[in-house]
Amino acid sequence: MGTSPGQATGYVLDNAAAGELERLRALEAAYDPTSAEHLARLGVGPGARVLFAGAGAGGLVTWAAGRVGAAGTVVAVDLDPRFLTALAAPTVEVHAADVTAGTLPGGGYDVAHARLLLGHLPDPAAVLATLAGGLRPGGALLVEEYDWASYGPAFPSPAAERTIAAFTRVLVEGGFDPGLGRRLPTLLRRLGLSGVDAVGRVLTLRGAGSPTASVHRQTFAALVPKVLAAGLLTQDDLAAFAARMADPDFDALTPTMVSAWGRTTP
Ligand SMILES: C[S@@+](CC[C@H](N)C(=O)[O-])C[C@H]1O[C@@H](n2cnc3c(N)ncnc32)[C@H](O)[C@@H]1O
Repeated sequence: MGTSPGQATGYVLDNAAAGELERLRALEAAYDPTSAEHLARLGVGPGARVLFAGAGAGGLVTWAAGRVGAAGTVVAVDLDPRFLTALAAPTVEVHAADVTAGTLPGGGYDVAHARLLLGHLPDPAAVLATLAGGLRPGGALLVEEYDWASYGPAFPSPAAERTIAAFTRVLVEGGFDPGLGRRLPTLLRRLGLSGVDAVGRVLTLRGAGSPTASVHRQTFAALVPKVLAAGLLTQDDLAAFAARMADPDFDALTPTMVSAWGRTTP
């Protein structure tokens, strides 16, 4: 059996897994509109040179290519760019690269972005330094990561709490940091960036067809084999949680998506 790029770096949810494209699309439906607002404010506009690190399924790559136009460039980097290669175009470069290696394709970026990438990597500060190093003077870095603090059911629910704890444990054992979101502004300031600030966005899990419910369902589905193999839950536990999620009286909040930004010295 072959080793996927994700397995090589310890990334738990790798792009080779069945259903990963659908999971990434659900993530994009939930979070791209807000990310795009931040990116536009930070300088993704006509003629801009923009970097997406860990670009995933490329929803923001397509959006940015439309914004920067013929005079701009969008560079998409991913350890496993299988969902990005079709986006390559005269103004869109796609690179298979590991951002932990300390180098980026090209430099002089007006804006660099990473979302839900650093939380899985062993040294987020080092990767942030690499991303900031790729910016032109006065360029902006936008990083968006989860903070787990808001995550949980609205009212006590042993089935939900037990399930969330088991899935969190599998992620943490795979190297995921559930508190990275709150650390982002400090990490950006330590790099010497200016104008550092952050906002958090919390969504509800209600609504069968909502993108957040879909992200949640698909992330859990991707991790089920690991949770079962570790003996953290049984099939009965999973059925109890599914029943709880299907109950119209059940509500929960998602983790907080923290969007943090800063600029290099002009
Ligand atoms: C959770 S997905 C997020 C995708 C996208 N940023 C989004 O928010 O929709 C993480 C992505 O980072 C990529 N990735 C993981 N480790 C990486 C690394 N060391 N270097 C580059 N990309 C990496 C994965 O292949 C995956 O596409």
